Amino acid sequence: MKNILVTGGAGFIGGNFIHYLMKNRQDCRIVCLDALTYAGNLETLAPVLGDSRLRFVHGDITDREAVYRLFEEEHFDAVVNFAAESHVDRSIDTPEIFLKTNILGTQVLLDACNKFGTGRYHQVSTDEVYGDLPLDRPELFFTEETPLHTSSPYSASKASADLLVMAYHRTYGTPVTISRCSNNYGPYHFPEKLIPLMILNALEERPLPVYGDGKNVRDWLYVEDHCHAIALILEKGRVGEVYNIGGHNERQNIEVVRTILKALGKSEDLIAFVKDRPGHDRRYAIDPAKIHRELGWLPQTGFDEGIQKTIDWYLNNRSWWEHVRSGDYQKYYQKMYGNR
Ligand code: NAD
Ligand code: DAU
Repeated sequence: MKNILVTGGAGFIGGNFIHYLMKNRQDCRIVCLDALTYAGNLETLAPVLGDSRLRFVHGDITDREAVYRLFEEEHFDAVVNFAAESHVDRSIDTPEIFLKTNILGTQVLLDACNKFGTGRYHQVSTDEVYGDLPLDRPELFFTEETPLHTSSPYSASKASADLLVMAYHRTYGTPVTISRCSNNYGPYHFPEKLIPLMILNALEERPLPVYGDGKNVRDWLYVEDHCHAIALILEKGRVGEVYNIGGHNERQNIEVVRTILKALGKSEDLIAFVKDRPGHDRRYAIDPAKIHRELGWLPQTGFDEGIQKTIDWYLNNRSWWEHVRSGDYQKYYQKMYGNR
């Protein structure tokens, strides 16, 4: 049985990844290490917390002593690092924690892999490390060869971590892989991000704050497709390689917002154009040719199907998001949108 460390598994994608492995890979035991920041939520893992194949450890990836203790005890076959500060708007407000968690936390995990050994260290990265593409060149896509060119403290911290991962591979021979994924959506998505925020505001008939002119483009990937891709990279990916994950589900933000309003039967009068995000990336678009060619992966869920499944999930899981939005979330919302 494989023993896998999943960091950040109480967050959106890490949580979905744990659900995915528990359902689709019977030969796995999983240890989830998560600091339970504002974005971490044990209710996301509630359906599987009682399963003997899952151990939850409350801890911080930047805490070297605690991380080393865990590695010594567990002898992991693989490590998948999802733990991060992940929201661009927050990184503009408070960059420091992004550098600490996303860069130094990655370094601690890499050091632990070298000290105690592991079959694979997988870094969950982002297409934001490539910067953005112009809106008037739809033929351009990010490939694994696209130069790193970051825009926000968040993307700079993720790019730094990627460089460190590759440097550890070259210098110490650490058996690493990296995946760079486009925007995810689906169940358990924290409602500071575009899609869940718009779904919940629409449900409650509150204004839907669209940054700038709403023409920025994102390449949306249903989260289960991302989880499948990471599982394939762990099993069949080549050590020392980067794999882009995403694929041809590009939408302007305003189109996404209109789709949500239509699906919920709400008026477009709820749309409120607000001040743009500083440094706002215009377009992300992934070319997934490499992961398709080498590992046979392609996304299975188109945007129309995925957005409907996501809306249904929020309609059917009210208690999850009501708990998430209690407390500090209200203060965050007021700070970000109060005077925008
Ligand atoms: P998230 O913010 O929903 O979850 C992050 C998780 O990490 C939370 O459970 C949080 O408690 C935990 N965490 C934060 N700091 C920690 C620390 N110091 N030690 C241990 N745990 C800590 O993030 P997400 O959207 O699930 O993103 C997961 C990863 O995927 C991130 O690395 C992000 O950069 C990357 N990514 C996200 C997307 C996306 O669309 N959401 C796309 C591409 C890549
Ligand atoms: O591309 C991958 C990245 O996708 C991940 O690395 C990040 O962790 C993840 O947060 C996401 O980054 P974005 O900045 O693209 O996601 P966000 O949901 O914050 O915004 C999506 C788009 O919607 C972006 O163009 C900004 C816009 N937006 C966002 C919010 C929260 C709005 O117009 N209004 C909003 O209120």
